[in-house]
Amino acid sequence: MTKDKDSTVKRFHFVYIVTFIIGTIIQFSDESEFAVDMSNSGLTQIPKGLPPKTKVLDMSQNYISELHLSDISFLSELKVLRLSHNRIQHLDISIFKFNPDLEYLDLSHNQLQKVSCHPITNLKHLDLSFNDFDALPLCKEFGYLTQLNFLGLSATKLQQLDLLPIAHLHLNYILLDLEGYYVKENGEESLQILNTKTLHLVFHPNYLFSVQVNISVNTLECLQLTNIKLSNSNCQVLIKFLSELTRGPTLLNFTLNHVETTWKCLVRVFQFLWPRPVEYLNIYNLTIVQSIGEEDFTYSETALKALKIERITNKVFLFSQTALYRVFSEMNIMMLTLSDAPFIHMLCPQATSTLKFLNFTQNVLTDSIFQKCSTLVRLETLILRKNELKDLYKVGLMTKDMTSLETLDVSWNSLEYDRHNRNCTWVGSIVELNLSSNILTDSVFRCLPPRIKVLDLHNNRIRSIPTDVTSLDALQELNVASNSLAHLPGCGSFSSLSVLTIDYNAISNPSAHFFQSCQKIRSIRAGNNPFRCTCELREFTQSIGQVASEVVEGWPDSYKCDYPESGSCVKVTASG
Ligand SMILES: *[C@@H]1O[C@H](CO)[C@@H](O)[C@H](O)[C@H]1NC(C)=O
Ligand SMILES: *[C@@H]1O[C@H](CO)[C@@H](O)[C@H](O)[C@H]1NC(C)=O
Ligand SMILES: *[C@@H]1O[C@H](CO)[C@@H](O)[C@H](O)[C@H]1NC(C)=O
Ligand SMILES: *[C@@H]1O[C@H](CO)[C@@H](O)[C@H](O)[C@H]1NC(C)=O
Ligand SMILES: *[C@@H]1O[C@H](CO)[C@@H](O)[C@H](O)[C@H]1NC(C)=O
Ligand SMILES: *[C@@H]1O[C@H](CO)[C@@H](O)[C@H](O)[C@H]1NC(C)=O
Repeated sequence: MTKDKDSTVKRFHFVYIVTFIIGTIIQFSDESEFAVDMSNSGLTQIPKGLPPKTKVLDMSQNYISELHLSDISFLSELKVLRLSHNRIQHLDISIFKFNPDLEYLDLSHNQLQKVSCHPITNLKHLDLSFNDFDALPLCKEFGYLTQLNFLGLSATKLQQLDLLPIAHLHLNYILLDLEGYYVKENGEESLQILNTKTLHLVFHPNYLFSVQVNISVNTLECLQLTNIKLSNSNCQVLIKFLSELTRGPTLLNFTLNHVETTWKCLVRVFQFLWPRPVEYLNIYNLTIVQSIGEEDFTYSETALKALKIERITNKVFLFSQTALYRVFSEMNIMMLTLSDAPFIHMLCPQATSTLKFLNFTQNVLTDSIFQKCSTLVRLETLILRKNELKDLYKVGLMTKDMTSLETLDVSWNSLEYDRHNRNCTWVGSIVELNLSSNILTDSVFRCLPPRIKVLDLHNNRIRSIPTDVTSLDALQELNVASNSLAHLPGCGSFSSLSVLTIDYNAISNPSAHFFQSCQKIRSIRAGNNPFRCTCELREFTQSIGQVASEVVEGWPDSYKCDYPESGSCVKVTASG
């Protein structure tokens, strides 16, 4: 036995020493492959003496300007090579001929002007985007890359036949950087990209959109455009550009990143997309410039299900709020997200709305939102997280006619409920209510939807849960963490309670009666309270033993007191 133990110790030391020696640059990754990370290390060339078994090599963000056969030919097991953000000007792909396993080659953000070709048949990911190519750097050898999944390219001009060598490949993702693209005198060019699921085009961030290429793609499911700058005069250029691209019936998702536009042009783009097959339209980082006025919009039948705009900056200061909000409030779609935006209000739809999901996280909406609004009858989820709501009574009233509403999130507002206030009115359909991170006190328990199942009240100012509140018999999950509760609640008013989170409060003497009162408890998290070692705590900890400690999360580490066996009252430091 002693011998066994000895050898274990020796083996341990051996592993430890080996790891210590090479550990500075080499790690075993999850798949136990040799990974060497020398990114951002000020290198001007690929260093000599790399471990021959290296499978993953990261040399990105250095100053490497040349690649030679001898740099990597001995890395016969190399699978992944990252060389993005260097200064490489010329690439001869034949230098990889002794790396037959190479699958992933990232040469994006270099200064490549020319590529000499050679087939590397196992390549799945080839990124040549953000380089200085004039025309698309495709040679016939690319046609042999039958495993290729991702292809990143850049060009300043496009020609009809540029992509012919790869026409028969079925790619997942093509990233085409057109930052340096300039309009040719002879007008429109055309380009056929035969098969890819996702096409991502990146344009110049500072120039008005001017790309006149008729791009057509088969089997396109996802289209992404980055850097779109629009005025009223070039709006039509984008719409024309999109007309061929958005024709295919398989196109479901359309995403625009970093858009600067006039309101008029934005509405025109929406109007153009309305009858198209796109189901999900996402815009990230939208800036509205010049002016906002009334624009006509025809809400024709549409395939669009969801519009999501995250991060809106409005550079127009004087405008009609109604003109802006009306376009959104009448949309005949199911899901609308307008988040991280400066909206102070949203209009009630004029007729029965199709909306089921609304997400207005991080705006500046006030209590007047959707008051007396009776058209949102299909709305199931309403998220008003991080706004300027103040009065819980008004929030209840807002829901009155939202007869399908199940989930309401009004966390991170400044909500209060004054118990001398009027009785609250809530729609009966709400089952999940998030009131966390507000300034609610004990009185909140007198203003809750009657059939609620999940209630989040963490991070408020609750000191106790009144015993005489109306029963919440459906309540299953209650989170009152980070309040100032001095006692564990009983389950008198919450006969179905099964999950209770009450950590970070002021409970010093948890009562053993808790588990008798709360028979349905499956999980309780009550750690990080200032427990004192009293007889009650001892009884409580004993009753945990009976209920089975799986029910109690963080047990026993978060429930420690200095002298557990001692009967005297000792102040406890909670850990965990
Ligand atoms: C764009 O190209 C497609 C397919 O090559 C063609 O059917 C269509 O007519 C072209 N559109 C224009 C405006 O030239
Ligand atoms: C389209 O977007 C939806 C929602 O964002 C997502 O669930 C879906 O996977 C996307 N589809 C494609 C083909 O990318
Ligand atoms: C948002 O997009 C603008 C261009 O429209 C760009 O200048 C800005 O850097 C982007 N902001 C962020 C945070 O991405
Ligand atoms: C609501 O929008 C915010 C911000 O865009 C996002 O982080 C959050 O996941 C969204 N919520 C849901 C339920 O989609
Ligand atoms: C309530 O919202 C907070 C933050 O806004 C989030 O962390 C928490 O998970 C939400 N609670 C539930 C039950 O979804
Ligand atoms: C509030 O409701 C309670 C119980 O239903 C009732 O007794 C009381 O009169 C109501 N108060 C007001 C101001 O309506």
